[in-house]
Amino acid sequence: MACLRPPGMPRSPLPTGADPMRPASVEDALALLTELGAVPHLVKHHRLVAEAAAELCDGLAAAGLDRFDRAEVLVGAALHDAGKTLHPDGMHGGGSEHERAGYRLLLAHGVSERVARHAWMHAAWDDGEELEPILVALADKLWKGKRVADLEERAVRLLAEASGRDFWDVWSVVDAVFDGVAVSGDERLARSMLHPS
Ligand SMILES: [Fe+2]
Repeated sequence: MACLRPPGMPRSPLPTGADPMRPASVEDALALLTELGAVPHLVKHHRLVAEAAAELCDGLAAAGLDRFDRAEVLVGAALHDAGKTLHPDGMHGGGSEHERAGYRLLLAHGVSERVARHAWMHAAWDDGEELEPILVALADKLWKGKRVADLEERAVRLLAEASGRDFWDVWSVVDAVFDGVAVSGDERLARSMLHPS
């Protein structure tokens, strides 16, 4: 599927499938964040978003809608706000400096482009036509119970296209999956306030 990149974002030098994934796991991604100087609260945020991403992917897989790269979604979720190590003013929402900075920071530290792109694309999802970045963006909302209708609708459309199923058929199934992730939002928010990761 074509991947429309946000304005200004370089084209990937490699097709996603030919780009080996570095880091290869959520734990390695979180360790990298610490190496980059992320404070414990920021590492915790990534752990919780990766946890929500895992629940989201599992729910979609159970519905037979897993035509995406689960490992990339999880590791992308575990690094999406890496730029906030450089722009901590964006730590609690707001601010967009961290997105491009995070993309460049991750590339400079050996992270695969297919992973680093999520630092830029998680906040530019309205340009997205590829499932993995949309699912990272969705996990970054659902982890705290936030529902974003336009983002969910885009995810449903892409899931329907990938599976060859009817949009409304997919909608009726995945709305419950989104609910299932969002219902733990308050509990995750409470954990995000606890020290440390
Ligand atoms: Fe985030």
